[in-house]
Amino acid sequence: MSAAAVREFEAEARRRLEPAHYDYFAGGAADELTARANEAAWDRVTAPAAVRGAPATGLLGAGPVLIAPTAFHRLAHPEGERATARAAEAAGTIMIVSMAATVAVGEIAAAAPGATLWFQLYVQPDLAFTRTVVRRAEAAGCRALVVTVDSPALGRHDRDARHGFRDLPAGLRCENLRDGDRVRPIAMWPELSWRHLAALRGMTSLPIVLKGVTHPADARLAVEHGAAAVIVSNHGGRQLDTVPPTARLLPGVVAAVGGAVPVLVDGGLRSADQVRAALALGAAAVGVGRPVLWGLAAAGEAGVLRVLDLLRPGCQEAVTACWAS
Ligand code: FNR
Repeated sequence: MSAAAVREFEAEARRRLEPAHYDYFAGGAADELTARANEAAWDRVTAPAAVRGAPATGLLGAGPVLIAPTAFHRLAHPEGERATARAAEAAGTIMIVSMAATVAVGEIAAAAPGATLWFQLYVQPDLAFTRTVVRRAEAAGCRALVVTVDSPALGRHDRDARHGFRDLPAGLRCENLRDGDRVRPIAMWPELSWRHLAALRGMTSLPIVLKGVTHPADARLAVEHGAAAVIVSNHGGRQLDTVPPTARLLPGVVAAVGGAVPVLVDGGLRSADQVRAALALGAAAVGVGRPVLWGLAAAGEAGVLRVLDLLRPGCQEAVTACWAS
């Protein structure tokens, strides 16, 4: 399947979404250099058609296309993360639930009991509250914690500023951040460091995956600190602009890790051939962010499932619309 199919889903999503919400999903930080470079870089990767066994076993046990954690699915579709999880279940892949989900992780799990869920965590400076959130993920049956390490601060998003989009509309909340009667804002924590990983280790026996590793030296440190996997990611270019595209960063991290743990990658992947190229560069699996949101906005669960199908390496299906016109 070519990247044109994802562009069709994006066009349909754009027709259906409020402009502010479309721009929230599509946009990147600052000048959006990294967001654009992510997509362009996969166009320049050529991959030999090597014969491989089934990719992504072990910790992953699924794949090779995972749902990257993205916030606010109820802006895309009324069923929100429930629909996304049902699609993950139907596709037999992993959904990484964002800490900023608009449905509580326990309810997502209840909506798709057969889905494999991982939980994405921003470690909060209030470690006691961090523990509360981790317990919620454990109670929901999540199989791994994905700790995002690429966000010392929120990116500057000019598109959101132009729309005056600052927060979720009335009635929608980041349900995983509930604390009694209130919902806490998510703190981006510039002091996050390796010693906090040890603190997390003490909180949970879940495997810990680090998301947002871009430097080979950090990848080696992640393995030394017990990470079960690393995700090469620049957050889809949404936090720090000018970080290099992930297609360029992946080989260095794969070499540094030397097979000690699985290396995943996300950012700008828009076609099955690009997914195949990422696997050929040594990724154990890939994550997709925006394409899943376009599928969700265009056609709910069926749209997400279709996008996941079309991104599977080897998929030869022609593009057919799965949304009601
Ligand atoms: C994200 N991403 C993200 N990552 C994360 O760790 N926690 C989060 O809450 C979010 N939220 C989020 C919202 C939206 C709208 C987008 C587009 C992305 C980043 C995400 O997990 C992933 O790294 C990128 O989306 C991958 O790039 P593509 O596939 O969108 O190009």
